[in-house]
Parts: sequence; C-alpha cells; structure tokens
Amino acid sequence: MTGLDVVLLPEELKSKDISDCLVVVIDVLRASSTITTALASGASEVIPVYLPEETRKKSKKICSDELLLCGERNGKKLPDFNLGNSPLEYNNSRVKKKKILLTTTNGVRTIELVQRAKEIIIGCFLNIQAIVQYCKSYSGKVLLVCAGDRGTVSLEDTVCAGMMMSLSENHSQKYCFQYDDSLIASYLYREFNNHLMDMMQKSVWGKHLFEMGLKQDLVFCAQENVYRLVPIIRGDSIVVND
Ligand code: MLT
Repeated sequence: MTGLDVVLLPEELKSKDISDCLVVVIDVLRASSTITTALASGASEVIPVYLPEETRKKSKKICSDELLLCGERNGKKLPDFNLGNSPLEYNNSRVKKKKILLTTTNGVRTIELVQRAKEIIIGCFLNIQAIVQYCKSYSGKVLLVCAGDRGTVSLEDTVCAGMMMSLSENHSQKYCFQYDDSLIASYLYREFNNHLMDMMQKSVWGKHLFEMGLKQDLVFCAQENVYRLVPIIRGDSIVVND
C-alpha cells in the first residue's frame, strides 16, 4: 500500500476523488459481520441493495430457488424476508450455495456511496487480519470507510478502523494521514484494545441491539479473526476474493 487513511463517515467522501483507492467498508454492527459470515458459511454471493422495495423487485427478476431475501430496518428483520441481519442466522445449513439479496440501513448505503472506488472490500473484527494482509499487499492507496449510523459516527466502526491501522503499522509503507479521523480512530483503538465487548456495549447501536435481546450478536461480532476471507465487490455482487 502507498497510503492509508480513514473516514469516520461515508458522507465525508461526497466531494473526494476515490477512484484510485482500495476502500474497506467497515460496519461492525452488523452488515460487514453478516456479509463475512454469510460468505464463510458458503453463500455463493451477497447482492447489496439499499432499499427494501428495490430488494423485493430484484428478487422477482432473479427468480432462482437459491435466492434468499435478507436484511433489516431499525435492526429488525423485514416481515416478508427470509433472514434478518444477524450474523448468527447465516449458518451453513441456511445459506450454503444461496444467493443473498441483502438490504441494510448503513452498511449497504456505504457500499453504494463508495462505488467510484477502484476496489471495494468488506471488513470487520471477524476477518480483520485477512483484510489487513490484503491492504498491505495492495499496490495503491487504501481508505478505511466507517459506515457510522445515519450520518453520525459510530464507536465500533471507529475502533475497528483504529485496529486495522495499528495492525498495518509495522509494515514499512508510506502513510498519508489527511484527516484527523485517522488520529481519532488510533486513539480510540488504544482505549478499547482489549475490551471490545465493553466497547460494543457502550456504543449507541450496540446498546440498541442489546435492548432488543441481541447480546449474542455483540459477543459474536466482537471476536477477532474467526474467518480468513476477504469479501470483495465484483460487479453487483460481493464474493470471496480468491
Ligand atoms: C446497518 O447496515 O445499518 C446495520 O448493519 C444495522 C444492523 O445492525 O442491523
């Protein structure tokens, strides 16, 4: 990599040229964790679609027995959908060889907002080492883009970006920190380094999920390096990088 930077919100990118960057989309709770788990459990691809209505329409066009309609609004599964957005739902018996049409509030929106990037991969704690390895061997600039929560910064995405920066540090590369976002991410990561679950329980969205009875989602998403795969955008789909 020839440069590494962070933005804490995708909105910051509106007027920026990212056409020469590898972008890592980070939505720890929960879109990035769900996409990574779905692919690790054998889903053939994840197709991100921002609006639920569009997702329904698209499902009619694809017309495949292998298709699952998935996603959330306000953290809840949509009533007529097959699965919600909990990574724990995406086990092998449910998703193996399936095409996942996924709609989520912030994660999928962020993927749409960074479409102009040269390459897009999806990262979280679950696959953090694989993501860092991929970034280190990338020949251009890397930008870590936190999804946040509807235009506000989110603690868990920021800490995850800080961890990715910290894991990249020993690599003898040139960094170009253009924004204070990188510093904020690094400092916050130092604060919560060994307390990821505590950190998840402090964050606004973490508390919301906890109150919905989804503590196990936080426990799951706080794990590091459960998977070694790198989800990457190819055309309209997210697939495992081979
Ligand atoms: C999102 O994309 O906004 C999140 O993944 C929401 C959630 O936790 O379901």
